[in-house]
Amino acid sequence: MEKLRIYGGKPLKGTVSICGAKNAAICILPATLLIDGTCKIENLPDIIDVRRYISVLKELGLNITQNSPNEILVENKGIKTTSCSLELCPKMRASYYLVGALLGRYKSAEVPLPGGCNFGSRPIDQHIKGFEALGAQVSTTQGLIKATTKKLVGTSIYLDVVSVGATINMILASVLAEGTTIIENAAKEPHIVDLANFLNTMGANIKGAGTDTIKIVGVKSLPGNATYSIIPDQIEAGTFMVAAAATGGDVIIKNCIPKHVDSITAKLVEMGITVEELGDSIHVKCDKRPKKVNIKTMPYPGFPTDMHPQMATLLSIANGMSILTESVWDNRFQYVEELKKFGAQIRIEGRSAIIEGVKSLDGAPVVCSDLRAGAAMVIAGLASKGVTEISKIEYVDRGYENIEEKLRNLGAKIERVNED
Ligand code: EPZ
Repeated sequence: MEKLRIYGGKPLKGTVSICGAKNAAICILPATLLIDGTCKIENLPDIIDVRRYISVLKELGLNITQNSPNEILVENKGIKTTSCSLELCPKMRASYYLVGALLGRYKSAEVPLPGGCNFGSRPIDQHIKGFEALGAQVSTTQGLIKATTKKLVGTSIYLDVVSVGATINMILASVLAEGTTIIENAAKEPHIVDLANFLNTMGANIKGAGTDTIKIVGVKSLPGNATYSIIPDQIEAGTFMVAAAATGGDVIIKNCIPKHVDSITAKLVEMGITVEELGDSIHVKCDKRPKKVNIKTMPYPGFPTDMHPQMATLLSIANGMSILTESVWDNRFQYVEELKKFGAQIRIEGRSAIIEGVKSLDGAPVVCSDLRAGAAMVIAGLASKGVTEISKIEYVDRGYENIEEKLRNLGAKIERVNED
């Protein structure tokens, strides 16, 4: 087991380049099951979740050539099975996209129930409702989701909650269905638009992605034979923006789409931090103690829940009391006890963290409880005086490519060491 050791208190300075979006990659990868041919995917992040997904797709029978750490060639000449790996799938939250993709193309799917980050109950009732509305029979028993159908027929689906995963699964299942599918109350995240753009590039007919109504006209096949480049990761960009601010740094975040982080920019500016958009880069500079601010997480374009723990770290050293309210997940507060070990003053009231800013944090031994909580620990370590050791960093490796190398290039003193 490895841990990260950080000698904190140094302002981050320099330029960092953002990689492809994790949450786009892990829905575009299963979407290759829908293609009847080949496709090249560029700007794939080189992270554990992507590597696991590639292994699962290879096991199903896709030919995948890794051209470089960030580029693959996928050839779908038909698959061997529609039953997915019992070993790898439960470790990936996004394995449920295999249900939509396998059902959509091969009319049958057997996928272990998803694993991944743990922050409260993570129901999939909206996914199942959508598959059934399209004409599938679905059961969840003995840790497996089983779905079969003779054919899928387009229909109108109104999602009861704005769900990223259910929206994506509906798109995957309906691209090759007979007739037209309309998804209403759809999620609008940038990776939903990216998935639709990928599928359209491969031959699909999807309109309205990025709005709350998505229309999918079923096509007979997706010929593929095209190249697609994944969008930059807005959460990685946001994480570096907050890390720059929390360390009193001066950082240019390259290769991102500033529009995708508007809600984060708005909050940093409200805190008195300088944020400038420079084409596909963002310049973040912080030379005084940030001001307090209140935040409520919301589906896109609202403030992302996946930036909640990182932002809590910044608010911990802001001047005054901030209230950070979580409205997407039941329990995203596991980071709180760890952040308190740095000297942060936080209490939970219902779905809100009440954060009384302190002047500075002190390094501590801490543990990651999930991916974004891990990112929050890294930011706290960078912003703290003294040494921080972070265990269970495999959570961080699931979603951040070369995090310590990128931070070292910004002047951080950070190393990966063996637990013992
Ligand atoms: C995606 O999860 C992301 N994961 C999460 O990011 C992110 O936190 C989340 O969207 C919200 O933005 C991936 O893209 C792989 P949801 P997802 O379905 O799709 C409720 C990260 O750190 N709901 O939009 O699973 C649910 O309980 C990860 O990168 C139902 O009630 O989230 C939640 O309250 C962690 N029934 C809300 O909807 C359902 O059938 C939003 O969930 C589905 C969801």
